[in-house]
Amino acid sequence: MSEILVLYYSRYGNVARMAQQVAHGIEEVSGCIARIRTVPAVSTVCEAVEDSIPSEGAPYVSHDDLRECTGLALGSPTRFGNMAAPLKYFLDTTGDLWLSGQLVGKPAAVFTSTGTQHGGQESTLLSMMIPLLHHGMLIIGLPYSEPDLHSTSSGGTPYGASHVAGGDAKRPLTDEEKRLCRTLGRRLAETATQFNHSR
Ligand SMILES: Cc1cc2nc3c(=O)[nH]c(=O)nc-3n(C[C@H](O)[C@H](O)[C@H](O)COP(=O)(O)O)c2cc1C
Repeated sequence: MSEILVLYYSRYGNVARMAQQVAHGIEEVSGCIARIRTVPAVSTVCEAVEDSIPSEGAPYVSHDDLRECTGLALGSPTRFGNMAAPLKYFLDTTGDLWLSGQLVGKPAAVFTSTGTQHGGQESTLLSMMIPLLHHGMLIIGLPYSEPDLHSTSSGGTPYGASHVAGGDAKRPLTDEEKRLCRTLGRRLAETATQFNHSR
């Protein structure tokens, strides 16, 4: 079995729902399973320590999750056109993995949710790719051969999957957005499987 890590942060649930769709796409590929993980919120009280297990949702990620998985799907809400601090905070702890090159050559994909349609999805997705490129990961996007990329009137970009959640963050994923999340997961899992076999 090839395990693909789906690592996300979500405050209001939209990116969590996208993560489920990405996981469905991953598990459409024979021999692949998704390992879903999240990160704790960053506290304004620096000494505060989270319980090691969250009260609900996916378990917190560890460096072993990154080491053990054959690929990574990384999801974040857009915050001022950038990834959310809790995810960046976790990535900033991965210097040891970078030093030892343990993520080099693993495929990765990114996804995000915004409040508004032109609120910075692409800048967030690109910003999420930067640390992954430093780790030597191989970035997978969404090609325009996907019909949903042409017809969507909300989320969906060639840089990765996206969702427009609305000002109240309550807009559900559209059919196109769901399909593009699944396609991203499937493409990631297919690539991870091919690379795994050729190693
Ligand atoms: C501090 C903050 C900054 C935000 N910045 C943006 C932004 O730059 N563009 C945008 O469209 N939405 C922005 N939003 C809205 C979130 O991206 C949106 O609510 C997100 O889809 C929620 O994802 P979640 O349900 O997974 O937490 C911001 C929200 C917060 C709390």
